[in-house]
Amino acid sequence: MNNSGLLASLARDFERFKRELPRDFAAHVRSTYRIDLTARYLGETLPHPIGKGSGQLSLNSSQLETDADAGLAFAVLKTVIAQDAAGAQSMGAWAIHETKMNVERRGGGWTVTWKGRGWDRSFEDYLALVRAGRDLTRAGRLLTVPSVKYHLPRLNEPFRFDEYAFTTRALADAWGESPLLLEKDFSPTLAGDRLAEEKQQILRWVREVPGCIRDHADVRLAMKLMNARFDDGFQREMMAAASGGRGGADALVVFNRLFDAERGVAYGGPELSDRNLRVLGFLTLGGSPGFKSTTGGPMQLCGTGNIHSGRLIVEYARRGCSSVQLHTFFQLPLEAYPATHGSRTQRALHVLIFDPRDGLVAVMLAREADGSLERRGGDLLFLDLLPDAHRPR
Ligand SMILES: Cc1cc2nc3c(=O)[nH]c(=O)nc-3n(C[C@H](O)[C@H](O)[C@H](O)COP(=O)(O)O)c2cc1C
Repeated sequence: MNNSGLLASLARDFERFKRELPRDFAAHVRSTYRIDLTARYLGETLPHPIGKGSGQLSLNSSQLETDADAGLAFAVLKTVIAQDAAGAQSMGAWAIHETKMNVERRGGGWTVTWKGRGWDRSFEDYLALVRAGRDLTRAGRLLTVPSVKYHLPRLNEPFRFDEYAFTTRALADAWGESPLLLEKDFSPTLAGDRLAEEKQQILRWVREVPGCIRDHADVRLAMKLMNARFDDGFQREMMAAASGGRGGADALVVFNRLFDAERGVAYGGPELSDRNLRVLGFLTLGGSPGFKSTTGGPMQLCGTGNIHSGRLIVEYARRGCSSVQLHTFFQLPLEAYPATHGSRTQRALHVLIFDPRDGLVAVMLAREADGSLERRGGDLLFLDLLPDAHRPR
């Protein structure tokens, strides 16, 4: 089929999938458009690049079941606050309870305003959620990954190794198989906290945290970096520090929400994606040699921040992100999605993939038409959007 034939198919698929998105839409995209959406997150191969970021949308097993049914590629569980064997949490200020979330317009996009922080139920309850996620992962229905906020000391203080030890071992035991895939969260509220006022202090965390975690289990580690309250250059310093140090991270999630110091809340929207894309572009676009991990291979990046279209997914991919994780776009008012039926996850996936103008399929076909993406063996590959130096080998 030529390009205009494919666009006509896309318009038809967009319309008919409003009522029901096929669970294996990636297989449909492959057979209909010869587009291979295969993506990667933390060393795992995914059928497509779209996952869910840690937060209020991965707090219980029924949310995970819904995501598995929708065909989401992966879900990161809500961030738990690390504790020692006696239950003490040095980051306990992050384990606060707050249920009310407001989805609001900001800068022409959407943001969620919410004063809550990390997991606020018991650690035992979290382990039960980890086991539910493990079962879905093993059944091949949905890759799930726990997320932790561990103790972060001031410069002149030691790390609380007992919290790292107890929490990491308990998660590894609950998971059962090696390695344990794990995200370490450096959150926007942390960026807004007095703890994060000093650059040297943040760089030390980012450098030393991987080793503190790896001491206690065989972990494949993604570090979700914050948008610190410094300039773009410091974001790049953080990325470099995270890939050096003892044991370095295996992947980086780039970058968590911005912090509005006046209102005391985290926010997203266009300002967030502008900043993230600018920082990443500096490292990865324009023939730069690429950003390496400690093992010398390309550093795996997972994009996050204001992703509300396939076009934005392509922008993150062009800057080295082999997958993306969304939160806000999975919680819009129902009338904001063109689909008329299905869960929010399905409705979001429908427009992200099949929108005839800004969906992932449309944007990849447009790049083929303008010569910036070529077919290989007849197929267009999502991972070919990444700069050479960042393509998984
Ligand atoms: C209400 C809310 C709660 C969040 N909680 C967490 C969290 O516990 N841990 C974490 O790593 N990220 C958390 N995030 C960040 C999201 O996972 C995501 O990375 C970020 O919001 C940027 O993506 P978005 O613009 O698609 O929302 C949260 C975001 C929102 C909106």
